[in-house]
Formats: sequence, structure tokens, C-alpha cells
Amino acid sequence: MNGIFYFSGTGNSLWLAKQIKAELGGEIRYIPKWNGDISAYDKLIIVCPVYSFGLPLPVFEFMTTLKTDAPLWIVMNYGGAAGSAAKFAYHHAKKCGLCIKRVYTMKMPENFTAVFSTPLLKPYNDGLLKKAPKAIEKIITSIKNEEEKVLPAEKSNKHKLYNENKSNWGKMGERFSASEACTLCGKCLRECPAENISIKDGRISFGSNCVVCQACYHRCPSQAVLYQGKPNKMPYFNPNVPEHEMGTDIT
Ligand SMILES: Cc1cc2nc3c(=O)[nH]c(=O)nc-3n(C[C@H](O)[C@H](O)[C@H](O)COP(=O)(O)O)c2cc1C
Repeated sequence: MNGIFYFSGTGNSLWLAKQIKAELGGEIRYIPKWNGDISAYDKLIIVCPVYSFGLPLPVFEFMTTLKTDAPLWIVMNYGGAAGSAAKFAYHHAKKCGLCIKRVYTMKMPENFTAVFSTPLLKPYNDGLLKKAPKAIEKIITSIKNEEEKVLPAEKSNKHKLYNENKSNWGKMGERFSASEACTLCGKCLRECPAENISIKDGRISFGSNCVVCQACYHRCPSQAVLYQGKPNKMPYFNPNVPEHEMGTDIT
């Protein structure tokens, strides 16, 4: 059976995981909550966003825990430029002793809008979402055909930015705060994959274990989550995913 493991802050990776399941079958598992038996799967597919030309921390760490001979395909999606993310993921899988077959990258709407702004966000995103079914279909056919592609290792200092950013991500949580618009509904606490958000003295408090997924920032129903004191003027969530499916397994 295929084990389709995903990590996602704003739904793009879950949407891709669902397309893969619809064509190839298998179980969709949410990486931050998973503690099952990997031997249940004879093929593994990891679906996740590109973070700083590399892997989100929960995915990076998940891969280090896997003990399996099952073949692995990785499907990464990015908002602007994937850089050396495919090579990074391929060689991280190798270092973890995993049987990596191929890494794919495809473009989806940007969600790191707290830091990078995308001009004409809505029409631009609509265009990307329109192209996405064809792009993932090609990847699915390649996985179905069990295609392999060896990627050369990057030069030693190429992943410096990733390593620097990865070590600072936890602290990025401290740049978030909640505005007066916050109703204390608790959604950000529930959606945070790192349990980094709590209520202290009647206010939302952000700790230093952030995994920078942007779920709180984009999915707050009151747009009350601020980044460096500024509100989110362009909330994004993949419109083709029912939001209640986020963070769940689909079996
Ligand atoms: C912390 C962080 C770092 C990111 N780094 C990159 C990057 O290096 N290159 C890029 O093109 N997109 C980058 N993105 C954008 C995401 O990869 C992209 O929007 C992805 O589709 C989000 O997937 P999701 O909706 O499943 O979370 C980054 C996003 C975040 C939150």
C-alpha cells in the first residue's frame, strides 16, 4: 500500500497529496501527528512545501526516523523558486538510508507572504491553481511508472542559507502576535503543528518552537495574527481543499 505523508501550512501540499491518492490509492498521513508502523507501506510518497530551498523541519526530522526499504518519491511545491531543494531532499533521504527514487518540484501559490510579497496575488494564484492539475498529473504518471532520477550532490556550502534559516525558524514565532481583533477562538492553538501557541493572561502567546508553516497567520478567521506588528493583508488558503481536512489523515 502507498503511504502518502504530507506536511502543509496552507493546503497546497494536502491538495497535491489528495490528487496522488485519487490516482494511485493509499493512505494520506499527516507527518506531525503520525506515530504508526512504516512497515504497513510498500511505497512511500512525501508531499511538502519547499522551505528556504530545503525541507520543512517536521519533514526533515520525520525522514531521519524512518527505518524502511520501501521506495520513496518526494513531491515538493514552491511559491517562487525551488533552487536546490530537490537535490537537498534527495541527499537528505540518502543520508537517512532511505531508498529515494526521485524528487519532483512544482509551483503553487506562495504562502510566505509575511516576508515575500507576490504582486497581483489573486489572479496570479488563480493562474497557478489552474495549471496545477496538469503539473501533478505528470508527476503522478512518473511515480506510477516507478521512474528514478539520480541527482548530484550540491557543492558543500550551497545549503548554507537553509541551515542558517532552519536554526532561526523556532525564534520566528516570537515575531508573531495577536491584535485586538483576536476573539480567543483558539483556532491557531489547534492548527499549530508545533504546539507553539498558547493562551497566557487572556492573550494569545507565541513561543520559540515555531516551524514557520504560516497556518496561524493565514488561517485566523479574524485576520488577527500580526507579523512584526503588521496584519496579513493577503490571507491565503488553497481554495480546493476543505479546511477541516487539514492536519488529518485520509485513509
Ligand atoms: C518558511 C517558508 C519558506 C519558504 N521557502 C520557499 C523557497 O525557498 N522557495 C519558494 O519558492 N517558496 C518558498 N516558500 C513558499 C512555499 O513553499 C509554497 O507557498 C508552498 O506551496 C506552501 O505549501 P503549503 O500550502 O502546503 O504549506 C516558503 C514558505 C515558507 C512558509
